[in-house]
Parts: sequence; C-alpha cells; structure tokens
Amino acid sequence: MNEKPIQRYTANQRSNHWLVAILFFMAALSGLALFHPALFWLSNLFGGGPWTRILHPFMGVVMFVLFMGLVISFWRANVFIRNDGVWLRQIGQVIQNKEEGVPPIGKYNPGQKLLFWTLLACMLALLVTGLVIWRAYFSAWFGITVIRWSMLLHALAGFVLVLSIIIHIYAGIWIKGSVGAMVHGWVSRAWARKHHGLWYRDVTDDKSAEPPINKKG
Ligand code: HEM
Repeated sequence: MNEKPIQRYTANQRSNHWLVAILFFMAALSGLALFHPALFWLSNLFGGGPWTRILHPFMGVVMFVLFMGLVISFWRANVFIRNDGVWLRQIGQVIQNKEEGVPPIGKYNPGQKLLFWTLLACMLALLVTGLVIWRAYFSAWFGITVIRWSMLLHALAGFVLVLSIIIHIYAGIWIKGSVGAMVHGWVSRAWARKHHGLWYRDVTDDKSAEPPINKKG
C-alpha cells in the first residue's frame, strides 16, 4: 500500500498563515492595551502608549491584507457541501471519536468552515470600523455617532475574533497532526483518510475510501 505522505500546505501558505498569526497576537495585545486602563501595561511591549496607538492600526491593516492571502487560498475548500450538515448533526459522535456512520468530509470539516467565515466577517468588520476610528487619517470624515458605533463594533469584532482564535488553536492542538501540517506542510495518508475522507479521495489515487455519497448539495 502507498504510504507516501500528502502535502496539505505549500511553503507560501504556511508562511502566510504564520505571519497572520504573529500579526494577530501583536494586534490583539496592542488592542487590549488600548481597550482598558487595567491592560494599559501591555503598551510597554510596543514602546509605550503613543507608539501603541500609532502602531496598532498599521498592524491591523497588514494583518488584514495577509489574511486576504489565506482567504484567496482557502475559500473554495470552505464552501459547505451536503455531507457537512449530516456531519454537524453527528458532532457528538465525532467528539467521542466514534466516527463510524459519520459521512466523509472535504479538506475542512464544517466546524473549520464555520470558523473560517466567522474569521472573515470579523476581519472585514475590524477593517471598516478600524478605518472609521483611525483619528490620524480618516475619523474627520465621519460624525461622532458613526465613530461611537464603530468603536463599539470594533471592540465586539475583536472580542469574537480572539474567542474564535482560541477555539482555532485548541482544535488544532486537539486533532493530532494538524499543527504538523501547518508547520512542515505534510500529513500522513491515514490522517487524511480518517479526518478528511473526500479530500483524501480527491488528492490520491486511492478510490477505495468511503464513496462520496451526497457529496454535492
Ligand atoms: C498560534 C496561533 C495559531 C495556530 C496554532 C494555528 C493553527 C492552525 C492549524 C494547525 C491549521 C491547519 C488545520 C488543518 O489543516 O486542518 C490552521 C489553519 C488555518 N488557520 Fe490557523 N493557527 C493560528 C492562528 C491563526 C490566525 C490568527 C488566523 C487568522 C486570523 C488563522 C487562520 C487559519 C486559516 C484560515 C486556516 C485554514 C483553515 C480553513 O481555511 O478553514 N490561524 N491553523
């Protein structure tokens, strides 16, 4: 039997992903420093209050642009297919690792897909509201009511993004082999077959895996 590993991510995709991750942490920490006086000490990481205020929006814009690189690479694999609905209804079995009868899924599971679209929504909301509240360049174009609503929505979108990333990291560590895929790019055939049966069929010549029943909606 063919035991050759399967490439899940190219070097470009991995560099792109980890740059986004680094920028996420920088934007999140600087954002928290600006969010509440109790967290203002975090501004020391960025050279003090004024520097934190100057740098935070630039980090956010760079993170957004790089994140769009991930979106261009991965959006297609995150479109929902009919098997995803059945998979979601059987999530209890998946969590207990009793996956017999659970339909095979594509490159990403429905949980990852939901997370992907949530990340995109948060990023778009953060960008738009962030531009509105960026005093140095754009705020003068908007009225105070729009600025106040934008501040609230910016904080809310940041909060949802941070929660989503906590789930993302936890899930990545929980599914053994995922972090390795994002570090060196490869997964074992057994991993691909167990976690992403339809993707496994698509990218290998092994058509003995479970047939893609109900594949398309
Ligand atoms: C320390 C932080 C992070 C860790 C440990 C991590 C881990 C991972 C892992 C292991 C995968 C591969 C999952 C798979 O192939 O099934 C992945 C994929 C991905 N990650 Fe991260 N990640 C981190 C931060 C981020 C951040 C900050 C973002 C964006 C805001 C992000 C966006 C993505 C996207 C879009 C994918 C592809 C999955 C999909 O399209 O559904 N990650 N990450």
